[in-house]
Amino acid sequence: MNNDVLRSEISLGVALVTLHRPDKLNALNGDLLEALEFTFLSIQRDETVRAVVVTGSGPRAFAAGADIADLHSQNAHSGRIFAERGQRVFSLIERLGIPVIAAVNGFALGGGCELAMACHMRFAADTARFGQPEINLGIIPGYGGTQRLPRLVGMAKAIEVILSGEMLDAVEAHRLGLVNRIYPHAELLDRTLEFARSLAAKAPLALRACLEATQIAADTSELEGLHAEASIFGKTCGTNDFKEGTQAFLEKRPATFAGR
Ligand code: COA
Repeated sequence: MNNDVLRSEISLGVALVTLHRPDKLNALNGDLLEALEFTFLSIQRDETVRAVVVTGSGPRAFAAGADIADLHSQNAHSGRIFAERGQRVFSLIERLGIPVIAAVNGFALGGGCELAMACHMRFAADTARFGQPEINLGIIPGYGGTQRLPRLVGMAKAIEVILSGEMLDAVEAHRLGLVNRIYPHAELLDRTLEFARSLAAKAPLALRACLEATQIAADTSELEGLHAEASIFGKTCGTNDFKEGTQAFLEKRPATFAGR
C-alpha cells in the first residue's frame, strides 16, 4: 500500500510501515489512524510477513502525537470515541501475533509515544525524545499511555512523565527500560531492519507463541500466566517447526522454519 499519509513495503519477510506527514511531524490524524489500521490488518493476513518495523518520515519525528487540530473539536462524548478508536488500532498492533519494532527516529510524543509503546520493542535514534505532553493541553493520554507506560517503566516514573509532560531523551528512556536499543540517527533504520530480518528467519509460530505468552504476563496474575505458559508451550511442541528446529540442532545444520 502506498498512500498520502502512510507508506508500506515488504522485503525479505519484513514489512516497513512509515508514517508520512513530515510537515506535521507525522501527527496522527484520522486518515493516518485509518491507514494504520488497514495496513496492520493486511499485514496480519499476509503469511509472508514475519516481522514489522514502524518508523516516521523525515528527520525530526516518529510522531508528535494525535493531531491537535482534530483533537480541538472533541467534546466529552466524542472524546471517548476518539480515544477508543486509537486504542483499537494500537491494541491491534500489540496483539498482531507478529513482532513489531518501533524505529523511533525523533519526537515520540503523546500518541506517538503510545504507538511506540504498543510495539513490542523500541529502537531509538540518539536524537529521539519521548513524552506524554497531554497534560499541557488539559487532557490525559488516551491511546493507552496511562496503562502501558507504568508497565514499561514502573508507576513512579510513569506518573512523573504523565503529570509533568516533560520529555525524556533517548539515554534516559533507555535507562528506564522504555527503549531497548539506541543507534546513531543515520544508522537507526538499517540496524532495526537488520534485527527485524533476524527475527523473520525464526519459527513464526514460536514467535507468535512468545508474544502471546508474554502479553498474558501483562494481563493476568503469575499463577494464571504459568498455567497459560504450559499450555502454549505444549502447542509449540506439536508444530513441524519444533521438529525441524530440534532435528537441525541434532544434525548440526541451520533450521529452516515453514511456519507449520
Ligand atoms: N498535531 C498537529 N500538528 C502538529 C503536532 C500535533 N500533535 N505536532 C506538531 N505539529 C505541526 C505544527 O503545528 C507545525 O505545523 P505548521 O508548520 O503548519 O505550523 C509542524 O508540525 C512543525 O511543528 P513545530 O511546532 O513548528 O515544530 P517545533 O520544532 O517548534 O516543535 C514540538 C516541535 C514537537 C515540540 C511541537 O511541535 C509540539 O509540542 N507538538 C505537539 C506535541 C503534543 O502536544 N503532542 C500530544 C498531542 S495529544
